[in-house]
Amino acid sequence: MTQIKDMKDIVALCKRRGFIFAASDIYGGINGFWDFGPLGTELKNNLRDRWWKDMVLCPPIGPDGTPVEIVGVDSAIIQNPKCWEASGHVGGFNDPMVDCKESKKRYRADHLIVYLPKSYDPEMDGALLFPCFDKDETPEDVEKRLKKLNLRSDISQYEVISFVDIKTWAYTNPNDDYGISHPKNYCEQYKIDELVRIPDSHKILRDRIIGPDTKTVGTLGEPRMFNMMFHSYAGAAAGEENKVYLRPETCAGIFLNFKNVVDSSRVKVPFGIAQIGKAFRNEVTPRNFIFRSREFEQMELEWFCEEKDVPMWFDFWVEQRKRFWESVGVPLNKLHFLDVPKEELAHYSSRTIDFEYQFPFSGEGYDELEGIAHRGNFDLTQHQEFSKTKLEYMDPQDPKNRYLPHVIEPSSGLTRGVLALLSEAYTVDDSRPSGVYMNFTPEMAPKKAAILPLTAKDDHVPLAQKLYLELREEFVVDLDIKQNIGKRYARQDEIGTPYCFTIDNDTINDQTVTVRERNTMAQERIHMDKVKEFLHEKMRAGASALKKAA
Ligand code: GAP
Repeated sequence: MTQIKDMKDIVALCKRRGFIFAASDIYGGINGFWDFGPLGTELKNNLRDRWWKDMVLCPPIGPDGTPVEIVGVDSAIIQNPKCWEASGHVGGFNDPMVDCKESKKRYRADHLIVYLPKSYDPEMDGALLFPCFDKDETPEDVEKRLKKLNLRSDISQYEVISFVDIKTWAYTNPNDDYGISHPKNYCEQYKIDELVRIPDSHKILRDRIIGPDTKTVGTLGEPRMFNMMFHSYAGAAAGEENKVYLRPETCAGIFLNFKNVVDSSRVKVPFGIAQIGKAFRNEVTPRNFIFRSREFEQMELEWFCEEKDVPMWFDFWVEQRKRFWESVGVPLNKLHFLDVPKEELAHYSSRTIDFEYQFPFSGEGYDELEGIAHRGNFDLTQHQEFSKTKLEYMDPQDPKNRYLPHVIEPSSGLTRGVLALLSEAYTVDDSRPSGVYMNFTPEMAPKKAAILPLTAKDDHVPLAQKLYLELREEFVVDLDIKQNIGKRYARQDEIGTPYCFTIDNDTINDQTVTVRERNTMAQERIHMDKVKEFLHEKMRAGASALKKAA
């Protein structure tokens, strides 16, 4: 039976047990920013380290039977601003947003939908109200709010249209990505041609729309394009000439260093450059816990290959990435692979497959976890042109053959990956005192084992300390001394520790300890000297079972 997981419960556990906190919690938080607590940091590092191992330290075996070649970089977050002009971010990294003057909230205009009564006739029904909702709102919540607004609550009576499709302003530019219409003076100022007059019948719409968080009509402003890059000023003067940007994706630092890496190491096409690090996007509506935040981490590989080999490498990386997610505890049946329709592709991509996961807030649907894109040689071409530096790769077999390699990019969110692990691991179990346990794989679990002296007195504690000092050299382990043993098991269940070793009177007599397994709660006794080997074996067994499954 599929278990219904509530995001609120997961968020509460994350705070209660120290996985993730709101940034600036004591000041009431700051929208779109999160801090990782002691356990969240371990979990994130485990996912990060595993990605780095699979990509850089121990990369996969390629189609020719030899390991592929990948090196890592760690580039600056702030780069020369020309880099973002070349990449298209200064001109094009925009989202349409709309402000509500009553709730003071800002929304992604393309995430808002308006409910129009099916019987609506623009010429006749000038007094009707048009409630507006976030596209992710559940039908139950929509109905509840319709009732509160004293409107017909049967949603089958409504037609749903996107907010940006409602042409409510006087003029519109037909070439606008989002079909956003602008007031006349805006169009004149920005010299937008081909203005289209909006039919008068549509003008009533704007004034009749009720924003998502208000009860009154006409509080939503005009949609405006909004650049998502955070900016600052480097140096003492805060002028345009010193304006710099926080990177919105980590891959740019890879492209900027393509030539440096080729010149300084022995890599030959095909090869990859990997990077893990922070990225920043001034998201209009950060939401769903760490799913869409304004500061987050990415794990990106840029795989440089010849154009003719693109289809082979694209398929290769899709398969590798499936294995990765499965092996860290995200089963394939929870993923959906979306071949992104041509009209929705990013400007640089001719093909992208999105790996989507069914997060607790996704309902019946899925939300993006990773994208694998064919970026062509867009980035190297742009940077070559803007920097006036030759970035062509020289074929070592044929120095006359110089070219800009094509790129396959598996790009995933590290923080979003952590959310997938947390969501997947969260397991309700009413039969145990904690009521829930976190079913992390042993490799991802923040703590691999807990050492629990049965009582805080007698000789249990020194023996527990001895075992702890031995184990911590090789594993991340917890020594937990106080409280009754049931409460301590409950705590370890909630933080997802796969094994607990309990020291009791028998340990003093025969040096055996009780091992409790998290998922089954089964207990067995083993000799203290065998604990390290036991843990190694369990970690190995977990890894090889997953390898076989792949
Ligand atoms: N270099 C390509 C690129 O950045 P993207 O689809 O914009 O592509 C890649 O981002 C991944 O980064 C996404 O699949 C997602 O996991 C993560 N990501 C993007 N925006 C994010 C945000 N605001 N918060 C958390 N993760 C985000």
